[in-house]
Amino acid sequence: MTSVYTVVIAGASSGFGAALAHDLAAAGHQVVAGARRPRPDAPRMRYVPVDLTDSEATHHFAQAAIEHLGRVDGLVYCAADPGAVQRAWQLDADAFARVLDVSLLGFVRLAGHLVPHMQQAGGGSIITVGSQAARTPVDLLAAYGAAKAALEHYSRCLAEELSGTGIRVNTIGIAAETELAATHRTAKAALRGRPSPHPPLPDVAESLPLARWLLSDQARHVTGQSIEANRP
Ligand SMILES: NC(=O)c1ccc[n+]([C@@H]2O[C@H](COP(=O)([O-])OP(=O)(O)OC[C@H]3O[C@@H](n4cnc5c(N)ncnc54)[C@H](OP(=O)(O)O)[C@@H]3O)[C@@H](O)[C@H]2O)c1
Repeated sequence: MTSVYTVVIAGASSGFGAALAHDLAAAGHQVVAGARRPRPDAPRMRYVPVDLTDSEATHHFAQAAIEHLGRVDGLVYCAADPGAVQRAWQLDADAFARVLDVSLLGFVRLAGHLVPHMQQAGGGSIITVGSQAARTPVDLLAAYGAAKAALEHYSRCLAEELSGTGIRVNTIGIAAETELAATHRTAKAALRGRPSPHPPLPDVAESLPLARWLLSDQARHVTGQSIEANRP
């Protein structure tokens, strides 16, 4: 990958995805960002609204990104559904399915369009945003953790199957004060009937350097890994 690169960020209307999109664009890289809520374009950042649970809309988003960027060097998948916060045995299957649809299948849909393009271009860096909840049970987040475990495993399979193609696939975990973190905290407090005992999470800026590095040439030998961006 050259020192200026082109990156698609999915799930970029708020939180980590929005912060990374603005950070990369400010550093001179070309970005196409998307999520359901509309957001304005910025210098070197084209925003394309997309619902990643909709196959046709996701296809359109991928096409728009390829047309705008010409070549896609990086793909960062940040989208996640904050719902289905519940006792594991009381989970509503439809709410669980929505979490899987956004956090796992949205990435499967998008990868289906962008990986062939990256293969043709001879390489690229893919980052999925996972969670510690994929490996450690977190109270009331069974659906979220299961979706992240599936995303992490799928990412490793992708890395393995793409080894030798120049396409790297890694999963990062973050810990940041975002809308998703606040939604989880509020839902947990409502279920427990008491506020969260945990202090606020770090600023999202602390999670950006790892993603920046994995997108860069410096990480060209790193694939199939799961790495925490900061102490959870
Ligand atoms: N914050 C943390 O401490 C933490 C810890 C571990 C992992 N993570 C992960 O970090 C990633 C970013 O989350 P965040 O913390 O930055 O929270 P966030 O601000 O809530 O970001 C989630 C993003 O996903 C998008 N999204 C949700 N459903 C979508 C859909 N159907 N189609 C397209 N986009 C959709 C949201 O945008 P719209 O609503 O506009 O669609 C939003 O841009 C997530 O994968 C999350 O699981 C966060």
